[in-house]
Amino acid sequence: MPITWRKATRELHLHNGRLSLVLGVLENGWLGQLHFGAPLDPAASYAHLGPTDFGGFSNRIDEPIALVVPTPGSGDFRIPALVVEDAEGGSVLDLVYTGHRIVAGKPPLDGLPATYAEDPTEATTVEIDLEDAVAGLRATLTLTLFEDRPVVARSMRLTNAGPHRLTVRTAMSAAIDLPDGPWEVLGFSGAWARERHPHRAPLLPGRRSLGSLRGATGHQQDPSLFLLRPGANETAGEGFALSLVYSGNFLAEAESGPRGSSRARIGLHPEGFAWALDPGASFTTPEAVVAWSDAGIGALSDALHGLYRERLARGPWRDRPRPVLLNSWEGVYFDFDHARLVEMARAAADLGVELFVLDDGWFGERDSDTSSLGDWVVDPRKLPNGLGPLAAEVEAMGMAFGLWMEPEMVSPRSRLFTEHPDWAIGLPGRPRTEGRQQLVLDLSRPEVVDHLEATIAAILSSASIRYVKWDMNRNITEPHGGALPPDRQGEFFHRYMLGTYDLWDRLTTRFPEILWESCAGGGGRFDPGMLAYAPQAWTSDDTDAIERLAIQWGASHVYPLSSMGAHVSAVPNHQVGRITPLRTRATVAFFGVFGYELDPRALTDDERAEIRAQIAFYIEHREVFQRGRFIRLRSPFGNDDAAWMVVAPDRRTAIVAHVRILERPVPPPDRLRLRGLDPGLVYRVEQWPSADEAGVARREDHADRDAQPGSQRRGGDLLMAVGLDIEPAYPPSSAPRGDFSSRIWVLTAR
Ligand code: GLA
Repeated sequence: MPITWRKATRELHLHNGRLSLVLGVLENGWLGQLHFGAPLDPAASYAHLGPTDFGGFSNRIDEPIALVVPTPGSGDFRIPALVVEDAEGGSVLDLVYTGHRIVAGKPPLDGLPATYAEDPTEATTVEIDLEDAVAGLRATLTLTLFEDRPVVARSMRLTNAGPHRLTVRTAMSAAIDLPDGPWEVLGFSGAWARERHPHRAPLLPGRRSLGSLRGATGHQQDPSLFLLRPGANETAGEGFALSLVYSGNFLAEAESGPRGSSRARIGLHPEGFAWALDPGASFTTPEAVVAWSDAGIGALSDALHGLYRERLARGPWRDRPRPVLLNSWEGVYFDFDHARLVEMARAAADLGVELFVLDDGWFGERDSDTSSLGDWVVDPRKLPNGLGPLAAEVEAMGMAFGLWMEPEMVSPRSRLFTEHPDWAIGLPGRPRTEGRQQLVLDLSRPEVVDHLEATIAAILSSASIRYVKWDMNRNITEPHGGALPPDRQGEFFHRYMLGTYDLWDRLTTRFPEILWESCAGGGGRFDPGMLAYAPQAWTSDDTDAIERLAIQWGASHVYPLSSMGAHVSAVPNHQVGRITPLRTRATVAFFGVFGYELDPRALTDDERAEIRAQIAFYIEHREVFQRGRFIRLRSPFGNDDAAWMVVAPDRRTAIVAHVRILERPVPPPDRLRLRGLDPGLVYRVEQWPSADEAGVARREDHADRDAQPGSQRRGGDLLMAVGLDIEPAYPPSSAPRGDFSSRIWVLTAR
């Protein structure tokens, strides 16, 4: 059992050879955190790492005792993990250990997305009971350790075991205490069309907070926080990654305390949150995942990628190769009819596209974003035959058919709003603030969830729909639950998410064969919570290759490539006006779930030929792109170029991409040190497309007589230790490649 209980010293040790988390019952009954990080010998005691060396346990004000569930009001003035108000209005807790259970596997979290074990041998869970006798509160902490993954999943269930109502004010999913500093905080921040840019800074005395109060995780902050030792880089150094499996208001925060210790916490945002817990009632927090490594940021990403791709994503599409799609949005926006879609589909099929997706505009009277959300009935002006015949025509061309929807929204100009104005979120007596001319439906009301399930199920059953893009294009204002009493309005935001998850759960259960992609104006709700229902997400509305380098680089810290929708679009790019080569647009989009978002009828013959080759290339290497190990090589931030690679699980194939953002004259010799290869294997290194086609001067390779033109044979050891030539010293580069050029190398073990 990788969780052991040491009775004599009352220690729990979670250990799997990848990390250790040691908890100890302190002399006053509190649950202390004795160690979190490097794997330690499970046979030894670590009680001495707890509080032993100060003047009596009662004299503990401001002592940096490391606790598992820190609470306020009794000497620990740092950020708490749990604040519960009792019937008297006080919020001091004395949470004392009362027992624990160690179980094989991982129990599900009721009504919430969570990681899972498919087989009980994959994980071990400990449930630890803590109780406050005065308030009558029981807190059951759940910690799961996965076999061979350096991650711990954590959540907490609060139960009112007393006779009076309690109010939960703060209930973090995880808190970790770090006895010594210094640390740096890495977070992923941005805006619409500029999501998830990494920001790293020292953790100075005080707090660093990332979060959202929008009712969704938002474009602005990712629900994650990395704590890194100064100097930690992609390949070396100690760090933790905290990541929240949730899609609504959240807080991820770190604090450097008075004596150099630090604490980090992640969970539901406490601001505006209050959950009334009546006698006998329970409340469960979302799950947080905490990864640890001393092998750098890349190893933290490896841990999250593996867990999220294999044991968070669910359903048959988790492991299936994801189809190359063409989405109609940037190609025609709202301007289409049946005949035009059929022409587009025919042109797409001719390119080798596998899935044709009809985006916004097919329902109600939706000619712009000013109307019809909520009226999920086909617009007979555009599609007089309905969706069924359109889907059938698309299928007859050899492609699957997919559809866009925005279930959580309603347009004030819609039949649904006219019939049920009270279903839109708003505060009685106050105007509702519109965003993109739309309002949000109150999914905290069960009848709204029932209605949406029925309406959407009817559409999904009306035609052969094999893919759904579930969008969500504005955040919540005037938060108010129409069916909640005044003393429960603090529950609204979380109840909205529970209703939304319920709807996702019902629809994905009813239509398991559909491939679901989540979206929120691009990456406005790209988070682990959504990944539990939709294995892929639209990473950003920005489809420019150079912007996408930055966005996908940032997102890749937490999310696997199999979750990141990435499309080639037309130039000048619709978001930034930039003109990049078609090859570079594909080079960047290959490193994600690949597709196109343009009007295929508008392509030249040359472009069509190039796109056919791109699709064939992606399909040939799709397994590696979607299931391989992604490795960041050179950051696009602060550099004139960027590079990344992906390696097949057996390390026999790898694909490396390099993008020259700005070309400079007289480039210095430059090599890219690769990673993740097998040092004992010899790889054939070939440029794709071949060097001749790419217009790059061909090099004679005297060391390798049987190499094909443009290909070389190189050892994995050499490629990692010395590198792959991107600007060879000899002969020096002849012709400049120009801005935004890119190259791809395919490495195949012989
Ligand atoms: C959002 C999405 C886009 C597109 C439009 C349609 O902005 O992110 O991809 O679907 O909505 O209105």
